[in-house]
Amino acid sequence: MTDTHRPTTHDAEHDPRNDHILIHVNGRLVPKDKAVVSVYDSGFMLGDGMWEGMRLHDGVWVFFDEHMDRLFDACRAVSIDIGKTREELRAILDETAAANGMVTDAHARLMITRGRKAKPFQHPSLSRWGPTIVAIVEHSRPSAAVKARGVRLATVPQVRGLPNSQDPKLNSHSKLNCVIACLQAEAAGADEALMLDPHGFVNTTNACNFFIVRRGELWTSTGDYCMNGITRAKVIELARKNGIPVFQKNFSLYETYGAEEAFLTGSFGGITPVAAIDGKPIGKGEGAGPLTSRLARLYEELVAAHVAARKAVHGPGSR
Ligand SMILES: Cc1ncc(COP(=O)(O)O)c(C=O)c1O
Repeated sequence: MTDTHRPTTHDAEHDPRNDHILIHVNGRLVPKDKAVVSVYDSGFMLGDGMWEGMRLHDGVWVFFDEHMDRLFDACRAVSIDIGKTREELRAILDETAAANGMVTDAHARLMITRGRKAKPFQHPSLSRWGPTIVAIVEHSRPSAAVKARGVRLATVPQVRGLPNSQDPKLNSHSKLNCVIACLQAEAAGADEALMLDPHGFVNTTNACNFFIVRRGELWTSTGDYCMNGITRAKVIELARKNGIPVFQKNFSLYETYGAEEAFLTGSFGGITPVAAIDGKPIGKGEGAGPLTSRLARLYEELVAAHVAARKAVHGPGSR
């Protein structure tokens, strides 16, 4: 069989230790091959749940408070009662990481669904036993090859929706909108989808937030139709602090194709350069341009400072 897999921003270096990890499922640590939820679970049945992807770096969950702000806001918006405090959720992540001997270069997917249903129907009140809380933490290091080469994007017909259909700020288990976009990008021979908003302006990708560099300025979408990405917010903050002009604004493919640089942001990969969009090379068509490299460095320094600050307050063994 030929390997048709193309690199994406979520490609991690292969790590065989992940074959035998322990996963936190509703209060118990269970081996990966036994880590299951009910077929009546609202997350499985309807995509009715919320999740966060977080990195463990040098013993610290990076930007944990910001992730919890987003998770609690999202669950509140759809009336999912997490039934736990932020610190109790941190304890679940800590316990899972510790059980797997992980200190750094690990990635968590913390999932909260409305829970197990009494009947296989949609009504939320049928979720009688919940929430379902699962924490998967894997050994993971973003692929160096993807960072070095950059990703190829294709603009796809699937758009980001209006907030009054399914608000793109809800990090819901249902990622069908993004999955469809990803399939369309793959069919177009690209690694990831560049998605437009309902008005035709460039918005985001199916899994990351999107930035371009034009004439030394950093541009990203208004933020109205994309995930309120934590990395996105940090990059905007870093640009402001470092005198890099940054604008959240509407822009079209016309300006995007003419960008000197483009990159993606996300908790998993940090900053990932874009090599080409719709077959048109961006910059040198490979690797990171100068502003992308500078921001990637600033972001790494910010993560390191955040980790050091948490350790200074809570001790070296803290997460
Ligand atoms: C669609 C989408 N865009 C962007 C992001 C990146 O967000 P963050 O920087 O908070 O990881 C995510 C991550 O979950 C996402 O699902």
